[in-house]
Amino acid sequence: MRAIYYEKFGSADVLKIGDLSKPDIKPGQVLVQIAAAAVNPIDRRLRAGELQEFFQREWPIIPGFDFSGRIVEVGDGVTGWQVGQDVVGLAFSWFLHGGTYAEYIAVDASAIAMKPDNISFIEGAALPLVSLTAWQALVEFSDLKSGQRVLIQAGAGGLGSTAISIAKYMGAYVYTTAREHNFDYVKSCGADFAIDYTASSYVDLIKAREPDGLDVVLESLTNDEAITSAIHLVKPGGAVPYMNNPPPDMDEIRQKNIKTDFLHNRPDGQMLQDIMALYGAGKVQIPYIETMKMEEAAEAHRRSEGWHTRGKMVLHIQDM
Ligand SMILES: NC(=O)c1ccc[n+]([C@@H]2O[C@H](COP(=O)([O-])OP(=O)(O)OC[C@H]3O[C@@H](n4cnc5c(N)ncnc54)[C@H](OP(=O)(O)O)[C@@H]3O)[C@@H](O)[C@H]2O)c1
Repeated sequence: MRAIYYEKFGSADVLKIGDLSKPDIKPGQVLVQIAAAAVNPIDRRLRAGELQEFFQREWPIIPGFDFSGRIVEVGDGVTGWQVGQDVVGLAFSWFLHGGTYAEYIAVDASAIAMKPDNISFIEGAALPLVSLTAWQALVEFSDLKSGQRVLIQAGAGGLGSTAISIAKYMGAYVYTTAREHNFDYVKSCGADFAIDYTASSYVDLIKAREPDGLDVVLESLTNDEAITSAIHLVKPGGAVPYMNNPPPDMDEIRQKNIKTDFLHNRPDGQMLQDIMALYGAGKVQIPYIETMKMEEAAEAHRRSEGWHTRGKMVLHIQDM
C-alpha cells in the first residue's frame, strides 16, 4: 500500500512516500481503507523525536492517528461492524508503527464510529482526535454546564475551534485567544469574546470582566506564564485541564480546590459516535479544513510547526 513514513527522527524532510505492506488485523480489529487522514501537532512532534519516553516504536513509522474510510475486513470477535460501512476513528496507540497517513489501517473496533452520510470523508477525518480531546476535557473532566464561563486557549487551531463549538453547544460563555485576523473565524465557531493575545493581556482583560473567576480554562499553551495564569483565572472549585503538561505545583490549586490534570485523548468509539451525531445534526460546527494531497504531508508538517494554521489540515489519501 502507498504510505507516508519515516525511518529516523528528524525534520519534515525525513518523511518519504512509498510502498509498505498492508497491515494484518488482530482479533477485535477491523481493516479500514483510508480516504483521508488529519494532521495533528503530535504527528510532527513524534517525527521530530519528542516524547520518546512515552512511546514504543517499530520502524518504519507511518504517522497519523485520525482517519475516515471504509471497512474492508472484520476481525474475529468483532460484533456490530460490517465490510462496506463508512467510518471515522482515532487510531491512537502508545505503540507507533502503522499510522493513518496510508491506504489502510488495522484499528480496534472499539475506536471507530459511523460516518454520518452528510459529512464528507475529508470532514470526517478532521474530527476524531480534536473532538474527543475537547469532549473529554470540557464535558467529562470539567463537567461544563450551561451558563458557565470558559477560556479556550488558541481558539483558531484545530483543538481550539472544536472546543469552542463544543463549549457553545453545552451553553457556556466562551472566551478565546487568537490573533485579530482570526476573530471572525473563532466567532463563527461560537466564541463570545475573542482576545488578541499579541495586542493585550488576556489575563488582565478576563480578570477585569470576570472578577469572581472562570469556571474552566482549557489550557493548550506551553509557556510558564500561561500554565500558572490558568490557575489564577479559575474560581474556587473550577477546572483546568492541561493539554501539554502536568499541572504546576501551586498552593493556589489546593487552596481553591481546583480540579486539574494533564489529559491525553483516549479513543472511545461510543463517545465518538455521539459526537459525530452532533456534527451530523449541525449542532456542533465542523472546523475550517484545508485539504492537501497525501504527497504534501511534509509541507503540512512544516506548516504545523509554524503554529499558525487555522482549523485542521487533512490529507486526501484516496477517492472513495
Ligand atoms: N492532550 C491532548 O490529547 C491534545 C490533543 C490535541 C492537541 N493537543 C495540544 O494542544 C495544542 C493545540 O493543538 P491544535 O491541534 O489546536 O494545534 P494547532 O491547530 O496547530 O494550533 C494552531 C493555532 O494556535 C494558535 N496560536 C499559536 N500561538 C498562540 C498563542 N500564543 N496564543 C493563542 N493562540 C495561539 C494559532 O492562532 P493564531 O494564528 O491566531 O495565533 C493557530 O490557529 C498543541 O500543543 C497540541 O499538541 C493536546
